[in-house]
Amino acid sequence: MGNHRGTILIVDDEAGPRDSLRMILKVNYNLHFAENGEQALDLLMAHDFDLITLDLKLPDLTGLELLKEIKRQKPDVEVIIITGHGDLQSSMDAMKLGASSYLLKPLNIGEALSLVNQAVKKKRQIDRLKEFLTEVGQIVGLNTEIGEGIRKLKEEPSLLEKVKRMFVQSPQEMEDQKKINYFDFIRNLIEFVEKEDPYASGHSSRVNYYSNLIACKLNLSDQEKEELQIGAYLHDIGKLGIDKRVLQKKKKYTAEEAKIIKRHPSIGISIVSPLKLSPNILSVIQHHHEFYDGGGYPDSCKGKDLSILPRIVAVADAVDAMISDYPYEYRKVLSIEEAVEELRACSGTQFDPDVVSAFTQIIENEKDKVILKSSLFSSI
Ligand SMILES: [Fe+2]
Repeated sequence: MGNHRGTILIVDDEAGPRDSLRMILKVNYNLHFAENGEQALDLLMAHDFDLITLDLKLPDLTGLELLKEIKRQKPDVEVIIITGHGDLQSSMDAMKLGASSYLLKPLNIGEALSLVNQAVKKKRQIDRLKEFLTEVGQIVGLNTEIGEGIRKLKEEPSLLEKVKRMFVQSPQEMEDQKKINYFDFIRNLIEFVEKEDPYASGHSSRVNYYSNLIACKLNLSDQEKEELQIGAYLHDIGKLGIDKRVLQKKKKYTAEEAKIIKRHPSIGISIVSPLKLSPNILSVIQHHHEFYDGGGYPDSCKGKDLSILPRIVAVADAVDAMISDYPYEYRKVLSIEEAVEELRACSGTQFDPDVVSAFTQIIENEKDKVILKSSLFSSI
């Protein structure tokens, strides 16, 4: 780290593609080249690469064998497969082995550059995430693995104060980066944490998706839609501060556990405070469990006291919870039609009638145009 130029290894036995990539990438990246698997593995030992572009046809190892070995030695390095049309099947196999994408020969310069930029950016974000989590581990006195760091973070809400300071204490980076990069970073963090619990995986992305459908139906402004997107992603970030054993419980919560869970909106506000987000976004985090009739938590806000954004996320959150395949013993998975019935039944009490009506119209009139299967979001 500390090196702003990404470092890329280009593995190809043909000079033509190697030279094309050199031309496209040399301005922005440090480049290394290998003509076969053996050279590639030697270089892999000697350098920290952000990205490897890998031709599947090599003179010694097969590309898939090499990919397996790369991922065994450096699981975090991004790999883009370079392939001819005939290799499409093997490039799909390569994706299963951890390659992040593939490029077809002959190379399209714009496409190659954009994929490489994306892959290096992703690697950098994961690196920052790891540094962050390692530091979290050090704060709690552990020589930590990532999973440990997350566990401790969840178990010790007081730690959040320190984490907050940690964000603020890197002024160099704070100056370099725009707020949205921190949003990307936190979004990665959330996806990372959600992956620990397969049933929560993708929840924030799906809530974001349903929220956006409703926002379009209600003709929200572009500004509001953008705030809604950020809020929807971050709405449950406070769950980082909640004990995993309570979060993942499959039976009904005891009164004590319910009290613990209900702290997640305010913990969320505390986590994101260094980001200086807009009041609308903060309101989504703080108020997505409020009821229209004032019966929700944590502030018992009523009706239209709140901005439209938390009222939309409340509905989107409930829809995802109802139709997703969570293993709660006390609740069965509903079809989208049953979920709409449930929303209608709670319209005016739990949910804002305008928002329910917008979502109901989408389902009843435009269902064919929108994707509603939660499984389709798992890779987002
Ligand atoms: Fe929540």
